[in-house]
Amino acid sequence: MTTRLPPAQVALLEAADAETDRPMTDLAGEAGLKPEAATRAAFELDDAGFVAVSEETEDSLALTAEGERYREEGLPELRLYEAALDAGADEEPVGLGDLLPEAGLDGDAVDIALANFARKGYGEVDSGSVRADPDADPGADAERAALEAVAAGDASGVEEATLEQLERRDLLGRTERTVRQVRLTDEGVTALMGGVEAAERVDRVTPELLTSGEWAEVEFAEYNVEADAEQYQGGREHILRQTANRVKDVLVGMGFEEMEGPHVDAQFWINDCLFMPQDHPARTHWDQFALERPDAIRELPEDLVERVRSAHLDGVGEDGEGYHSPWDIETAESLDLRGHTTSLSMRYLSGYQEGDLEPPQRYFSVEKVYRNDTLDPTHLLEFFQIEGWVMAEDLSVRDLMGTFEEFYDQFGITDLEFKPHYNPYTEPSFELFGTHPETGELVEVGNSGIFRDEVTEPLGVEADVMAWGLSLERLLMLIYGFEDIRDVHGTLCDLDLLRNVEVMH
Ligand code: PHE
Repeated sequence: MTTRLPPAQVALLEAADAETDRPMTDLAGEAGLKPEAATRAAFELDDAGFVAVSEETEDSLALTAEGERYREEGLPELRLYEAALDAGADEEPVGLGDLLPEAGLDGDAVDIALANFARKGYGEVDSGSVRADPDADPGADAERAALEAVAAGDASGVEEATLEQLERRDLLGRTERTVRQVRLTDEGVTALMGGVEAAERVDRVTPELLTSGEWAEVEFAEYNVEADAEQYQGGREHILRQTANRVKDVLVGMGFEEMEGPHVDAQFWINDCLFMPQDHPARTHWDQFALERPDAIRELPEDLVERVRSAHLDGVGEDGEGYHSPWDIETAESLDLRGHTTSLSMRYLSGYQEGDLEPPQRYFSVEKVYRNDTLDPTHLLEFFQIEGWVMAEDLSVRDLMGTFEEFYDQFGITDLEFKPHYNPYTEPSFELFGTHPETGELVEVGNSGIFRDEVTEPLGVEADVMAWGLSLERLLMLIYGFEDIRDVHGTLCDLDLLRNVEVMH
C-alpha cells in the first residue's frame, strides 16, 4: 500500500537509515532540506511512527579572545616560568622586575602570571623574588594542552576540571546545543517497502480547495509550536522611558498636570528665582554646564526681575533680610543647561508660562537635567528629575510626606525616610531616602521642601507651595535593584537586561 506524505517527509524518510542513528544535519543535507524544514519533517515522521528522533544536549566549547591569545603567545605563568629558568631562578631567586620584561608581561598579565605560577606549582614568589621549581614540567601543563585541544575542535580527552578552570579564567566559553539523531523504525521500513509518494501539501484552506473538493485529497501542514525557532529581538522602549511614563501616569492619577520648558535656560529661572545668591558657592554647587553660544537670553519679564533682585538685596516682608551682595542682570541672563527642573516650576509659578495660577494647583515634570558630576555608580552627567509642586493654602510638612508616601507606594516602596536638609529656597527642607532592595543601603532619592517667602513672594504667589525634585534613576534602582546606574544608561549598559526586564504597570 502506498503511503502519501509531504515532499519533505518523503525526502527525509528516504535518507534515514534503519541500522544507525544519523545526525539531523547530515540528513538535511542529503535530503536537500533546510535544517528547520528537516527538523519539522523528522518530528512529523516521528509522530507518525516512521522514524525515531533522539535528542542530546552537547556542550560546544570555544576559546575566548584572551584564551586564543594565550594559546598563540603562551600562558602568562608559563612565560614567567621559562623566563625564570633562563635567568637561573631554579638555583638562585631572581627579582621579578628583571623577569617581567623577559617574559613579555605587563599590566594585568603580571597578576595573572603570578597567581597561576604559584597555583600550578611552578615555583614561589616571595617579596618580589621568584624561585622556579626545577622539577616542574611546562610541557605537561594541562591547561596549555586544553587550549590546543579546544582550538582543534576536540576536547574529548580533556578533563572536566581543567575545562572548568579555563572557564573560571575566562579563557573558555561554553554553550549548550541540542543534537538530534534520526533512525528509521520498523514501521518506516514497512512504509518504504510499500512505496512512498509525495503528496501536495497546503498550509491553508482556500475557497478553491473547498469548491473543487480537492481539500479531501491534499495533505495539510501541521504546525509544530514546539519547534526551535530563531529568536528575533525587536525594538523596545527603554526601561527608563517606560518607568518615566509610568511615573507620569501615577502623577496624573494623583491630580497633577505636566510642565514643559527649555533644557537650556537663563540662570534667572534656574537660580535667581530660587533665591540662590549670585556670589554664593551654592550657585555652582551642581557645576552646571554653561552655554558659550548663545550665552544669554534677553527676554526676562522685567517686573519679575525687579522683584527677584529686590528679594536678593533686601529680602521680602517687613523684617526681611536679603543677601546685601551684588546682583547683576548679566548673570541672571546667562544661559546654562538646567541643573534641575525647578526652573520649570519657577516659570509656571510666576505665571510666565501659562498665565497666573489660582490655588490649589499641582504640577509635575519628568525631564532631563544636567550636572557636571564625576561619573560613578550613582552619578551621571545627566539624569531624569521628577519635579513637582503643590500650591495650596496652609500646607505643612505632613502634606509633603503624605504626598511622597502616596507616590512611592505605587511603586511598592513603603520604607521612605526623611532627613532635614538645607536648600537656599526651601524652609523646611528634607532629603528623601529609600532602602536598596539588594544591598540594604539607604539611597538618597530626592530633595524637597516648602518654598520660602523669598521665592514665592516675588513670583506673586500668596499660597503655600511644597515642592520636590526626585531622581527617576534612583527610583529605578529601588524598584529593580540595580546597583549601578550605568547598567541602564550609556555604553556599559546591560543589553540582555534592557531586552528582558518587565516594567510593572
Ligand atoms: N532642585 C532640588 C534638587 O535638584 C529639588 C527641589 C525642588 C528641592 C524643589 C526643593 C524644592 O535637588
